[in-house]
Amino acid sequence: MKNVLVAGGSGYLGRYVAREFKKRGNRVRVLVRNPEKIMNPGEHGEPVLQGFVDEVISGDATRPETIRGLCEGMDIVFSSLGMTRPDFRHSSFDVDYMGNRRILDMALETGVKKFIYVSVFNAEKMLDISNIQAHEQFAGELRKSGMNYTIVRPTGYFSDMGQFLNIVKSGVMPILGEGDKRSNPIHAEDLAKVCVDAAGNDLTDIDAGGPDVFTYRELAELAAETAGKTPLYVEVPLWIADVLLPVAKLVNRDIADIIAFTAAVGRLDGVAPRHGTRRLKDYFRECLSAEG
Ligand SMILES: NC(=O)c1ccc[n+]([C@@H]2O[C@H](COP(=O)([O-])OP(=O)(O)OC[C@H]3O[C@@H](n4cnc5c(N)ncnc54)[C@H](OP(=O)(O)O)[C@@H]3O)[C@@H](O)[C@H]2O)c1
Repeated sequence: MKNVLVAGGSGYLGRYVAREFKKRGNRVRVLVRNPEKIMNPGEHGEPVLQGFVDEVISGDATRPETIRGLCEGMDIVFSSLGMTRPDFRHSSFDVDYMGNRRILDMALETGVKKFIYVSVFNAEKMLDISNIQAHEQFAGELRKSGMNYTIVRPTGYFSDMGQFLNIVKSGVMPILGEGDKRSNPIHAEDLAKVCVDAAGNDLTDIDAGGPDVFTYRELAELAAETAGKTPLYVEVPLWIADVLLPVAKLVNRDIADIIAFTAAVGRLDGVAPRHGTRRLKDYFRECLSAEG
């Protein structure tokens, strides 16, 4: 039995990781901003954490005074703490880099044995995006820190693929570029197993994707077929993102990041080593039946 801190424990991945550590007999402490959130299922079907956590710490990684003592007594720290949607107050640097840096400093001070961090697959090809820079700047410092570590770099999550279902309902499905770039998205339950396995192995860097590979167009078609819709497919040339990007950078860096990331997805193949058994078609079906 190990004492494990899960930072980002109220998030899509963090909830499955907390549950997986607990199922394997560990004592689990989670850092969350809002303890009530984990008492209800997540918006993408993530599990309620009641019964799967031993201790809930309420704190905000951008406010050091709220996370004092966070790592005390911990053997392992897992962090999927990150800013995944614009909050218009903090930057990715404040959260993904500085927030995780504060946790690492505490982990080093208190003798934590292993730190597992979640970055992004293909990060090295997208370092012009500030969110990816923040992830990899932290990953670089973790590597140099002297701590035993694993950096997990996943492809897109099923939670994000749910956007295809929302878009298909509008009747128009934009296809990025030629829609031929491939990826293998992963369910957080499958990814959680990869992350928890990392606590017991010596791998420093793990790329992880799901079991099935799709082109962008195939993802859109799967969403349409599962939802029983026949949308109009409209190819969106990637130069539009290139034109919008400098303007978006003047308005808001987080929105610029979303545009830059979308363009990168349209240009890069993103197939990582395959893990897990959860299928995207089933996930789409679950989303549709949850909507009723
Ligand atoms: N989505 C993808 O396809 C994808 C692919 C590869 C990698 N990733 C990376 O994987 C990581 C996890 O993604 P996810 O989908 O699980 O994200 P998520 O659902 O948004 O979870 C992020 C977690 O971080 C917490 N958090 C954010 N700011 C915080 C702060 N200032 N102090 C304390 N906690 C804070 C959130 O708390 P609240 O619940 O209070 O918001 C939440 O628990 C992210 O770093 C993301 O960049 C995502």
